[in-house]
Amino acid sequence: MMDAPTTTTDDRESPAADGKEPRISEGPSADAVLVRRTLAEIAPVADRVTSYFYALLFTHHPELREMFPVAMDTQRDRLLKALLTAAEHMDDVPVLTAYLENLGRGHRKYGTRATHYPAVGEALIGALVRYAEKSWDEETEAAWVRTYTTISQIMIDAAAEDERSAPAWWQAEVVSHDLRTPDIAVVTLRPDRPYPFLAGQYTTLETPWWPRIWRHYSFASAPRPDGLLSLHVKAVPAGWVSNALVHRARPGDVLRLGPPAGSMTVDHSTDTGLLCMGGGTGIAPIKALVEDVAEHGDRRPVDVFYGARSGHDLYDIDTMLRLQKTFPWLSVHPVTEEQGRLPEAVCRYGPWNERDAYLSGPLDMVRCGVDALRGAGVPSDRIRHDFLTELAPAAG
Ligand SMILES: Cc1cc2nc3c(=O)[nH]c(=O)nc-3n(C[C@H](O)[C@H](O)[C@H](O)COP(=O)(O)OP(=O)(O)OC[C@H]3O[C@@H](n4cnc5c(N)ncnc54)[C@H](O)[C@@H]3O)c2cc1C
Ligand code: HEM
Repeated sequence: MMDAPTTTTDDRESPAADGKEPRISEGPSADAVLVRRTLAEIAPVADRVTSYFYALLFTHHPELREMFPVAMDTQRDRLLKALLTAAEHMDDVPVLTAYLENLGRGHRKYGTRATHYPAVGEALIGALVRYAEKSWDEETEAAWVRTYTTISQIMIDAAAEDERSAPAWWQAEVVSHDLRTPDIAVVTLRPDRPYPFLAGQYTTLETPWWPRIWRHYSFASAPRPDGLLSLHVKAVPAGWVSNALVHRARPGDVLRLGPPAGSMTVDHSTDTGLLCMGGGTGIAPIKALVEDVAEHGDRRPVDVFYGARSGHDLYDIDTMLRLQKTFPWLSVHPVTEEQGRLPEAVCRYGPWNERDAYLSGPLDMVRCGVDALRGAGVPSDRIRHDFLTELAPAAG
């Protein structure tokens, strides 16, 4: 899955026991110490904890089963993993709150209600009691209950706030489907009501062929006056949703979209130049960012490095070159594997340390790109990418 910044807890604001009042801490809070002790004990048997957690949840609350995908295979640990990671980083209030608010809003599309949270909390405690036998005691249980209450309250409050102004999901009809290469399609959608988002963000999407299986796709344009949304989808080998979108979807099909998410957006309060790196379909949100800069009438320099395996895989190069012709501030640099890897190609140009950097594409490319840019002197807080919005343990 996706990764996020490593969060450390030292010298940061920490929640008080009720999770509301931030305090300055010199180390992890007492609850965090107990929570981490439990996590250390269950780490070697994580798979069993996950199975038992779902077994408890679905035997005690069979009515919840149908909210989850029929096949709960590779991704089934996402809920529990996020929960445990959030608990581990409970002291890092700003990162965690933003993440959990987004997660709470996103849970509306699953049909999750405030009344469902206690069931998940019980299953969590039940699984921990069984697998953290050695370190479990009353104090530890109280720490977990407080932590889970704080986490779930942030999600519940964010969902309730969102309910006042946004639907739980949007229906979107496919209005055009353009196969650009044998495995990449540009899919254009008409949402059933206005879908507000920012250039550089992504959506979650469910197809009628794989009910309750949601995947992320970036918007390939800045918001358009006609309200249409376009996505670039690459069919990955044996991929459920991507193959359905590329090889099966046709005009007239109706998909479901969750709310927009992602922080890879342009900061219009500065006129700093942009350095963009897009690999494969990762060029889609980069194109949206270029359109966004153009719409704001800015004259900031923008360099786009567009990477793919071969020239043939640079399926959107014509559009990018057309944009380059229109906007004198835009330079587009196509990079194929023959010319070397994208991050290295980027570092051959430069210097980039005065730019805001945006990366989008396969996780490996983003990881290497971030490392290369940091190495080239770009400060971390100027580097934005898709993978920042998920919380995962110890990712760089
Ligand atoms: C923030 C974000 C934005 C994204 N935006 C886009 C986008 O704009 N366009 C787009 O096409 N995709 C995008 N993705 C990826 C997308 O969400 C799906 O992961 C992808 O379409 C595969 O889903 P699937 O259901 O077809 O495959 P799954 O059923 O999830 O996976 C099937 C198999 O393929 C493997 N696999 C998954 N992804 C790849 C890959 N890229 N290359 C090779 N093997 C893979 C899996 O490990 C698994 O073994 C984005 C992902 C994130 C996190
Ligand atoms: C604090 C509590 C919870 C946390 C941290 C959490 C976290 C997550 C995460 C990270 C995912 C992965 C997909 C995504 O990012 O949306 C997920 C999926 C899901 N969650 Fe939660 N969740 C919580 C509570 C609940 C509750 C109470 C319900 C309702 C019963 C629920 C139902 C679901 C469903 C149906 C999915 C989709 C399953 C899938 O895609 O495999 N979650 N959850």
